Amino acid sequence: MTKRVVLAYSGGLDTSVAVRWMIENWHVEVVAVLVNVGQDPESSESLDDIRSRALAAGAIECVIVDARDEMAEEFCGRAIATNALYEGKYPLVSALSRPVIVRHLVAQARAFDAQAVAHGSTGKGNDQVRFEVGVHALAPDLEVLAPARSWGMTRADSVDYAARWAIPIQATKDKIYSIDENLWGRAIECGDIEDPWSAPPEEPYTLTRVRTSEPVEMILSFREGRPTALDGQDMALAELIAVLNDRVGATGFGRVDMVENRRVGIKSREVYECPGALALIMAHADLEDLTLERDVHHEKRRLETRWTELVYDGLWFSPLKEALDAFVAETQRFVTGDVRVRVEAPGVARVVGRRSPYALYDHGLATYDADDAFHHEDSVGFVRIFGLGVQTWAARQGARHAAPGT
Ligand code: ARG
Repeated sequence: MTKRVVLAYSGGLDTSVAVRWMIENWHVEVVAVLVNVGQDPESSESLDDIRSRALAAGAIECVIVDARDEMAEEFCGRAIATNALYEGKYPLVSALSRPVIVRHLVAQARAFDAQAVAHGSTGKGNDQVRFEVGVHALAPDLEVLAPARSWGMTRADSVDYAARWAIPIQATKDKIYSIDENLWGRAIECGDIEDPWSAPPEEPYTLTRVRTSEPVEMILSFREGRPTALDGQDMALAELIAVLNDRVGATGFGRVDMVENRRVGIKSREVYECPGALALIMAHADLEDLTLERDVHHEKRRLETRWTELVYDGLWFSPLKEALDAFVAETQRFVTGDVRVRVEAPGVARVVGRRSPYALYDHGLATYDADDAFHHEDSVGFVRIFGLGVQTWAARQGARHAAPGT
């Protein structure tokens, strides 16, 4: 019996070539699965064109799954609640889409009675880790194949290969950037970007190309940690992100330029544009400043880092990540309210106001005005006892912090 493989298909050059290459070299049957996670919103290419390309490459079937709401509600929603920025900067654009794709690959593998799944990632990146660890977490019995790790073809070779098999592709041999995108943003690598010293070129940016110099102010509303409305208008999260990408991105806000640590031990220079993601995380984190109790807030920050590393490393489906989800969910019960965000060209966005019915900010306690309700005399004993240990240490063992020259 011929082995049947379900391939994560993007419609691009590499995965189109992968269909034919696996048929020729591994003698398998290929089912192509295109999971729509909001990639390429401006593409002129219809899904029908993409389907016919997969079939032209030799796939026995091409399934297209619309996972945009799932990606937004479940994956981006959790990333917002967790203020997920890998190494303090990157909102996990590609890392969040992989488990969505994995889940559908596994479902289609079952539906088609396949023995293996395949992906088009190379051996140098994080995505191979995310696909393989993810698939094995959901389906320990499925084999995972990675043709691009074995074929040893350059981009030019792949273009020739596609031509030889009459696979209709739009790619050219001199494509400069490798771009992965979804509704959460765009990840750009290769070309000049590989030199960490050279400033990122304007060319590959689309969402953050400056289109206005008018400052805009907007109100983002959250309910239990989830964004629900923009300027008082309720919106599904996928739509809200798209609107923000447009409105906030128009001012040039949302670019990230970083040298990051990949899971496979390589440092790489990458640039991202993710205006909606960064605005939502900034606003959400600010609302937590107002509503989270101090110890919960401080512990959450530590655990956010851990959660973000797990997701970056491909461990979306893992017991620790799920336990941390439960912690985060518990912290979000009172993260409800509005955040006022001001966006100004070029590329500046900041929170200028926040309010919540559950705010822990107490004006009577905070104010220095006449209506101050704080008991100043209580501080005398509190501060004395708080500093007692250090005071005793200084008296018995001598503090070594005299001002210079005294
Ligand atoms: N470095 C990022 C990550 O690992 C993005 C990788 C995206 N891939 C690409 N072909 N640009 O999540």
